[in-house]
Amino acid sequence: MQFPDYRPRRLRKNENFRRLIRETQLSINDFIYPLFAVPGKNVKKPIQAMPGIFQLSTDNIVAEAQKARELGIPGILLFGIPSSKDDLATGAFAKDGIIQQTVRRVKKEVPDILVITDVCLCEYTSHGHCGMIEKGAVDNDMTLEVLAETAVSHARAGADMVAPSAMMDGQIAAIREGLDEQNYENIPIMAYAAKYASCFYGPFREAAQSAPQFGDRKDYQMDPANGDEAIREITLDVSEGADIIMVKPALAYLDIICRAKQEFDLPLAAYNVSGEYSMIKAAAQMGWLDEEKAMLESLTAIKRAGADIIITYWAMQAAKVLSK
Ligand code: PBG
Repeated sequence: MQFPDYRPRRLRKNENFRRLIRETQLSINDFIYPLFAVPGKNVKKPIQAMPGIFQLSTDNIVAEAQKARELGIPGILLFGIPSSKDDLATGAFAKDGIIQQTVRRVKKEVPDILVITDVCLCEYTSHGHCGMIEKGAVDNDMTLEVLAETAVSHARAGADMVAPSAMMDGQIAAIREGLDEQNYENIPIMAYAAKYASCFYGPFREAAQSAPQFGDRKDYQMDPANGDEAIREITLDVSEGADIIMVKPALAYLDIICRAKQEFDLPLAAYNVSGEYSMIKAAAQMGWLDEEKAMLESLTAIKRAGADIIITYWAMQAAKVLSK
């Protein structure tokens, strides 16, 4: 096809033509809404670096889950900030831990929204790393047991799906085995399969109070320079039994999303992380970007790249726009 026989502008002439040939349709069905649970009652504490996002006590998580359900959002992803942290991350798998309590309440009061739990230890360790420290470094295999125990405790509290994000080798197999042993063979795993050591998690670490107290996460999270390695990481998680695979962050890694969609036959999630959200919020507050348009354009781009599921702090705002 060549100009002048082909004139692409013919089908861009008005909105009805554009609707007919639109390839990507963003939908409320695509969204998972992350929430931060803190101890207490009636707590709604703004997160400075994430305008519009709050740390919420369980009662307020229930209320927010209710609103999400009314808007048609299929699921929420819960992060817990415990009242105290220790070296062994005991708050992560405590029967009455912040996540376990919150999951029980939400499942009781808003049964028909999916409650997904982030399975990691950084919010629960005093040192802020995602695993057990042995000789000054995160010990992989010791951490696996704790992750499996944490995932089982979430399932016992009623979680519909667990989402391991610690980037330990073998974590999906360890968690699958732990769940199956306790007869939770029907609880799926959404694996943070290709998770990068990204500066775009900065605002989240304020929200979850989970910044590492020494060093960084580069010896377990991936180098942003690598693409082939993401394929190897995802291959491992698929072989270990992941039900959904995830690429994280999303916007700076659209090429990885695109490759993952082509190479793997499993539902693909992308995590539109805190920094990606806050950048747009900040620019909009300065009057430099149209917030709603920037939100919709980035979510559409993530979907066009190949994501079936988008985990995003925009979930409520986007759902409101899409339901108009
Ligand atoms: C926990 C975890 C992190 C995020 C999700 N799960 C932080 C990190 O790895 O440091 C980041 C999410 C976001 O930035 O929105 N390991």
